[in-house]
Amino acid sequence: MYAQLVKSEGTKSREEMSPEEIAFQERIDRGEKIEPKEWMPEGYRKTLIRQIGQHAHSEIVGQLPEGNWITRAPTLERKAILLAKVQDEAGHGLYLYSAAETLGVSRDDLLDKLHSGNMKYSSIFNYPTLNWADIGAVGWLVDGAAIMNQVPLQRTSYGPYSRAMIRICKEESFHQRQGYDIMMKMAAGTPEQKAMAQDAMNRFWYPALMMFGPSDKDSVHSAQSMQWKIKINTNDELRQKFVDQTVPQAHYLGLTIPDENLKWNEETGAWDFSEPDWSEFFAVIAGNGPCNEERLGARVKAWEDGEWFRDGLMAHAKKADARRAAAKHAAE
Ligand SMILES: [Fe+2]
Ligand SMILES: [Fe+2]
Repeated sequence: MYAQLVKSEGTKSREEMSPEEIAFQERIDRGEKIEPKEWMPEGYRKTLIRQIGQHAHSEIVGQLPEGNWITRAPTLERKAILLAKVQDEAGHGLYLYSAAETLGVSRDDLLDKLHSGNMKYSSIFNYPTLNWADIGAVGWLVDGAAIMNQVPLQRTSYGPYSRAMIRICKEESFHQRQGYDIMMKMAAGTPEQKAMAQDAMNRFWYPALMMFGPSDKDSVHSAQSMQWKIKINTNDELRQKFVDQTVPQAHYLGLTIPDENLKWNEETGAWDFSEPDWSEFFAVIAGNGPCNEERLGARVKAWEDGEWFRDGLMAHAKKADARRAAAKHAAE
């Protein structure tokens, strides 16, 4: 299969590959999963650490904009649902940090890179959640875009990542439905509630489109990642699928997609739409989004506030070891 891909920067042709690299690529082409202790090219390991690490960071930073609304959810039921959803995201982070650790990187190291700004998380979480309808829009659009990205990753070539994705995707579809359910209530509510739903849609539409990453022509890592089946579809393919899925859902809600160029295209059988403002995307990625400082500050504070607890666990483990050693000594 890989021979069909256009050779681009960073992708090796068969002649340039070592025998190990050829054997590795052939396993991937046959659809075999690569497992932690098996041989893999250094680039494959590094790309996966970056991708899985960023993904893990996105899950835990993603708890922040929604956690912000747990105390203000309008009913007890909504509060319980939101609490469960935010807890799910913590669990996703943990599966993914564990998957990254199988590649020989420590969780402490990944967190250190997040806290020092040397590793990124999804740009979407640097936008604020200003009203209750935003929680609906986040579930519907943000988790919806996440599912679109993650469903193909269930077939990714790295075993631990692929298995983590299978569990995560089951929970993500519940997240999207709870978001859409909030939007249905708001859109069918009072004129003020419907206006809140439209306002949330207006603010989250383009940031959600940005979640698929830059346009294919500006995407640096695509060709090699696709050859290794770390990535299954291109950014633009997934973005198009997301738009095609979401437009009828917005129409059902009676909401307007904030894009004058949105138009059904008979020829392609898909929706034409405007690209997001990529200069905004790159500014947010570089740390200049509306909430970057607040989000990173919250993560660093949580890490620092948890130090006494980590120290306590280590001290307890040491004492337990010493006790076990003493008991063994006495028995001999
Ligand atoms: Fe998640
Ligand atoms: Fe989610």
